[in-house]
Amino acid sequence: MHALQPRHSCGCGHTAIATQGSSAIGHWNWKRSRVRYEFRKKVYGVVRLRHCIARASSTASGSSSGSEEDHPLPAPDGEAIAGKRKKEGSDLTLVVSVGENLRPGHVYVRHGGAVAPLTVGEIRKAALADKQSFSKRESPLEHEAWELLRSAMVYYCGTPVGTIAANDPTDGHPLNYDQVFIRDFIPSAIAFLLKGETDIVRNFLLHTLQLQSWEKTVDCYNPGQGLMPASFKVRTVPLEGDPANGTEEVLDPDFGEAAIGRVAPVDSGLWWIILLRAYGKSTGDYTLQERVDVQTGMKMILKLCLADGFDMFPTLLVTDGSCMIDRRMGIHGHPLEIQALFYSALRCAREMLISEDSALDLIRTLTSRLSALSFHIREYYWVDMGKLNEIYRYKTEEYSHEAVNKFNIYPDHLSPWLVDWIPNKGGYLVGNLQPAHMDFRFFSLGNLWAIVSSLATPEQAEGILDLIEARWVDFVGNMPMKICYPALQGEEWRIITGSDPKNTPWSYHNGGSWPTLLWQLTVACIKMGRPEMAERAIEVAEKRISRDRWPEYYDTRAARFVGKQARLYQTWSIAGYLVAKMLLDKPDAVKILTCEEDLALLEAMSCSLDANPRIKRKRKLKSTRIIV
Ligand code: GLC
Repeated sequence: MHALQPRHSCGCGHTAIATQGSSAIGHWNWKRSRVRYEFRKKVYGVVRLRHCIARASSTASGSSSGSEEDHPLPAPDGEAIAGKRKKEGSDLTLVVSVGENLRPGHVYVRHGGAVAPLTVGEIRKAALADKQSFSKRESPLEHEAWELLRSAMVYYCGTPVGTIAANDPTDGHPLNYDQVFIRDFIPSAIAFLLKGETDIVRNFLLHTLQLQSWEKTVDCYNPGQGLMPASFKVRTVPLEGDPANGTEEVLDPDFGEAAIGRVAPVDSGLWWIILLRAYGKSTGDYTLQERVDVQTGMKMILKLCLADGFDMFPTLLVTDGSCMIDRRMGIHGHPLEIQALFYSALRCAREMLISEDSALDLIRTLTSRLSALSFHIREYYWVDMGKLNEIYRYKTEEYSHEAVNKFNIYPDHLSPWLVDWIPNKGGYLVGNLQPAHMDFRFFSLGNLWAIVSSLATPEQAEGILDLIEARWVDFVGNMPMKICYPALQGEEWRIITGSDPKNTPWSYHNGGSWPTLLWQLTVACIKMGRPEMAERAIEVAEKRISRDRWPEYYDTRAARFVGKQARLYQTWSIAGYLVAKMLLDKPDAVKILTCEEDLALLEAMSCSLDANPRIKRKRKLKSTRIIV
């Protein structure tokens, strides 16, 4: 009889074990499956064990030195676990208690009279139990998406480090779509994290960290040290420049010095921080974020973003095209997308920075920037029916500390389309705010990420979703989701985009529809307890996304056509769909991305407003909103 006794943990997925009654010493490799069973109100999971034996070892220490081979399981004289125990080759499926983290000590095999942690006999399929604990079977569409996502994986020295932007075998001119884009990899990374395949994410975080301090120049000018690249490529180069010496692989980053328009990707570093936190929360492996090089990398990004300049506002000042919209689209200055990612990254960094003496100043700066930033956006970027009516009646040229129309917005600047379009219920954060200029366009990523990060108040977050629901045809139409609304047309398009033939009205960045935005929509909807909205959007996407070969974007007002120059098999369209599906299946997992309202930040802002004698309070502070 073989009584199996876990001896010693060798780390995740590996349990050194001695099979008593035999001379064989080996270990069990174990893999968790996503199937769940309920038994006496407790949830159990399934583990597949593969017994590996160390041939060379003869000690009973449980160590597995020497070469390994799969070894047939010791003769199973144990009772089958309610028919759920399966033996396939050398694999044995066991039912184990689902704890926080599966540890070797939780795994027991029932052998004859040997002790087992669960009694068998009454296990029933978990479909009846708590929906959140279980994952549904993969649909054919999800299966296809996984296949495509895996085929987009990029390897560096044999290990996966990212996914390429698009993987269309018929595309002879991929431009830079054969690179790993930082922003594009985020939904891939989340999909892999949710699937439990975390190595690729860890590798990506560490390799891009090395690229951060790369020597970078644009015509003799060196951009800031903390800058993260927009993308990178794995290149094979001759060793010491001579092919006769063989070849090696190198990572070749692009910081914008080769990108169209030569724009620095401000969002890359912000996404990197957001992903670092998601990795920690998802895997429970906080050692990565605690590493000295990782802490330093994070500080470098923060220093670059928090550096003093000529700014009068707490928002981050950037050039046009510094984010997902990486072409001229009139989003220079203080665009919402950057502000939402900035706020989110600061919140994530504050959680992860080790508060040792050398970081205290940075943490203080960061905290006060967070309060000022959220106040500024909540107060000045928000528009709804009431606020628009206020703007409509604005007085201008007010010179005083008490000015109502602080940015000197002229009422005639109020866009005519907005007057009829804004619903009675709901509102949104405008695209940009500068002196005498409010960009009234709705930008989806900025608004959705303001919900996810709690940059928007809970009421505003509800309002944004109300607006999307009320204007469903404009935002979702035949494919979720419009990147911005409405499109620039005519003279405006000519002046603002510089007559960009790629950004014609209702195409690409100018009112095109991007399937990847589905994942951000889903995170926002789940956070606000409205998953059915995301489900509706996914259903729309499912009707055609695979048939259309997973395009990058769609054109026309209602997203009826595949984008004129859209890449096919665009990885973040595929990954965005998968993340949306997986999150609906496991809604609790959105917590790896979301931040909740932080009352201490509000309190800090309220105190500094009170302390400023030049500021007169008009209204009382509500729990979630400060108004001066
Ligand atoms: C386009 C998009 C950009 C994306 C890149 C790779 O340039 O505008 O957001 O990162 O393609 O997919």
